[in-house]
Amino acid sequence: MSQILPHRPRRLRRTDALRQLVTENRLSSSDLIYPVFLLPGSGQRQAVSSMPGVERLSLDLLFEQAERCLKLQVPVMALFPVIEAEKKTEDGREATNPDGLVPTAVQALKARFPELALLTDVALDPFTTHGQDGVINDQGYVLNDETVSMLEQQALVQAQAGVDIVAPSDMMDGRIGAIRLALEHKGLIHTSIMAYSAKYASGFYGPFRDAVGSGGNLGKGNKKTYQMNPANSDEALLEVGLDLEEGADMVMVKPGMPYLDILWRVKEHFGRPTFAYQVSGEYAMLKAAALNGWLDEKSVVLESLLAFKRAGADGVLTYFALDVAQWLREG
Ligand code: PBG
Repeated sequence: MSQILPHRPRRLRRTDALRQLVTENRLSSSDLIYPVFLLPGSGQRQAVSSMPGVERLSLDLLFEQAERCLKLQVPVMALFPVIEAEKKTEDGREATNPDGLVPTAVQALKARFPELALLTDVALDPFTTHGQDGVINDQGYVLNDETVSMLEQQALVQAQAGVDIVAPSDMMDGRIGAIRLALEHKGLIHTSIMAYSAKYASGFYGPFRDAVGSGGNLGKGNKKTYQMNPANSDEALLEVGLDLEEGADMVMVKPGMPYLDILWRVKEHFGRPTFAYQVSGEYAMLKAAALNGWLDEKSVVLESLLAFKRAGADGVLTYFALDVAQWLREG
């Protein structure tokens, strides 16, 4: 005995074909950016204990990862360097060395895999003895304008090495404008800027700081004088608006899953290419639960990435990128 109902939403959920037909958002390997940790030397491979399944690799071993990106149609690889302690200084000047780890890797990767886009991080934290993203004064305060001129040099060196996208992750004021002008003045008109615009002072970056070795140096310090307060949302629109005005091509919200509301507001408000970073702590949470058998890895990872798309992301930086691309290929 059936009721007379005008609407039965379950009708369109009955079969796989019908569910496919009315699917609103889809995840594809082309939405993904794969972050990797780069070690100096060759033949070097180190596990990151707080990120099971993630390894720091020297350039020769990264070539295999680059090949896998191309094969699985992941369009971008993001490089994060692990800098030797003896190269770290108070002002992080190794970041501006044209023969440094990152520019050297960019040149080698672009020579071998010209079709793979590369993204490099613009920030001083892997290069400073104190683990802050900039130059500090004697109170430990990160100096804005002094830092911006270092970042400008760092971005130029990366662009001259042939990187496709520079991604300032430092949250200094005015850095996007300074970097854009510096690039234009040098005729580097094709280098894109993906700005970490709404980047929060988050506890979810812990495993990343272990991976690049900046966490120990930062110690009990924090980045609250430049990264955003997790309580704020309107301020994210201010930050994104400034970066776009200053010449960013793409913007980012970071972390990812706890900040889907911010992602949604940014995409709704500006309608520009907007990315989310599923950060190291999010990876660690999902991975830990999966390794304990508490969550099914494939289903929760795919669900988490689809959530970014639904919230308006054009793409996602995720340490799961290659696994996901493989799963999507298997169908
Ligand atoms: C450094 C930087 C950080 C991340 C990307 N670039 C850490 C931080 O701001 O302390 C975090 C990425 C992650 O947690 O996966 N400027």
